Amino acid sequence: MASGRRTEPRAPISVQSADAPLTATAIFLVLSVSDAAGALDQVRSTLADITGLAKTVAFRGADAAFSCTVGIGATIWAPLMRRPLPAELRPFPGFHGAAHVAPSTPGDLLFHVRADRRDLCFEFERLLLSQLRDSVHVEDETVGFRYFDVRDLLGFVDGTANPIGDDLHEATVVGDEDPMAAGGSYVVVQKYTHQLDAWNALSAEDQEAIMGRSKADNVELDDAPTGQKAHKTLATVIDENGEEHDILRDNMPFGSPASGEVGTYFIAYARNLWVVEQMLTRMFVGDPPGMHDRLLDFSTAVTGSTFFVPPVDVLSDLEHAPDDPPESDDPGTAPVAQPAARPRPSTSDGSLGIAAGRLTLLEGLDR
Ligand code: HEM
Repeated sequence: MASGRRTEPRAPISVQSADAPLTATAIFLVLSVSDAAGALDQVRSTLADITGLAKTVAFRGADAAFSCTVGIGATIWAPLMRRPLPAELRPFPGFHGAAHVAPSTPGDLLFHVRADRRDLCFEFERLLLSQLRDSVHVEDETVGFRYFDVRDLLGFVDGTANPIGDDLHEATVVGDEDPMAAGGSYVVVQKYTHQLDAWNALSAEDQEAIMGRSKADNVELDDAPTGQKAHKTLATVIDENGEEHDILRDNMPFGSPASGEVGTYFIAYARNLWVVEQMLTRMFVGDPPGMHDRLLDFSTAVTGSTFFVPPVDVLSDLEHAPDDPPESDDPGTAPVAQPAARPRPSTSDGSLGIAAGRLTLLEGLDR
C-alpha cells in the first residue's frame, strides 16, 4: 500500500436497509406498544438509538452481515412518529377469497433482524427487549433459517425473481411522489404454515404447475394459456400502462419437525403498498375470481401486518420530533391518501387491468 498504512476491514452493519444481504438466519419480531405509563417515550428513545444497538451487537461479529430494519404500523404512526403518515400506510386489511382467508393480526412494530449468525440475532433481540421493557408486548416472534439453496420448505427456490441493481431501489424505496416518506419502504409480513404431507403427496409436475417454476433446477415455466394460473403469474402485477411492479421478498422457512409446525415467513418490501395488496387479492380471491392460488391449498396464512420502514435519520431524530402531530395523520379518521404520481391499476371500465387477466374491482381495494 502506497501510504504504508494498513486499512482495517470495515464491519458491514446496516440499519433500515430493505436490500440488506440474504443471510443464514433471521428474526421476525412483531410487537404492540403497551398502555404502560411512558411507553411511547420508551419506544421513541429505543428507536432513536437503534443504530447504536446494532453496532453494539454487530461489531462483535463483523463478518456476519448483520442488519436490522424497523417498521412502524399505521395505528401507532402519528403518536409515535409525530410526522405525517406515509401516503399509502394503512393497517393490513385482510383478504377474503371463497376458499381462503389472509387474516389481519395486531402489530405496531416490526423488527426484521438478519445475520449469518444466530447468536447475533439473539443478542440483538435480548438487548432490544430489555430496553423496551414493559412499553411493548410480543405479538409474534418467528426465527427463520436458510434451507439449502434458498429453498422454502415446499422444496422450491424462493426469491429468484426479486429485482436487482437499479430495479431493486426503484421497486422498494419511496421517492419524490411522497416527500415526507421518501427514502423509506412499505413492508408486509405474513406467517404461513404448510401442510407438508398433503403437498408432498403431489407429483413434482403438479407442484411445479402450482408454483410456475421447475423444482430441481428452478427454471421459469410458461404461463398457462387459459384456466388456473401459477403462483408466479398471480403474483405478477402489471398496471394500465403495461408496467410491471416488483417487490423485494426475503421469505424464510421456520418451524421444526418435532413441533409439527413448519412454514414460510413471507416478508415483502415495496415502494407502493398497493402492489403487495393487489398480489394478495390475486392470490386469495383469484384471477378470475374463484381461481385462487393453489399454493394456498397447502399453506395457511396465520398472521398479517403492514408497516412502514422510515429512513434511519428519521429514527435518529425521533427524540427531537415536535409534540403535536398534524391532525390529519390519524389513520382511524383520515382517509388514506393516494400518492398523486403513482400509476393506478384501474381501467376506465372499473376493472383492474392486471397481468393477462382482469379482476373486478373489489370492495376495500379501491381506496
Ligand atoms: C407460503 C407462502 C409463499 C411461498 C412458499 C412462496 C414461494 C414462491 C416461489 C417458490 C416463487 C418462485 C421463485 C421466485 O421468483 O421467488 C415465488 C414467486 C413470487 N412470489 Fe411467492 N410465495 C409465497 C407467498 C407469496 C405472497 C404472499 C406474495 C405476494 C403478496 C408472493 C409474491 C411472489 C412474487 C412477486 C413472485 C415472483 C413472480 C415472478 O416470477 O415475477 N409470494 N414465490
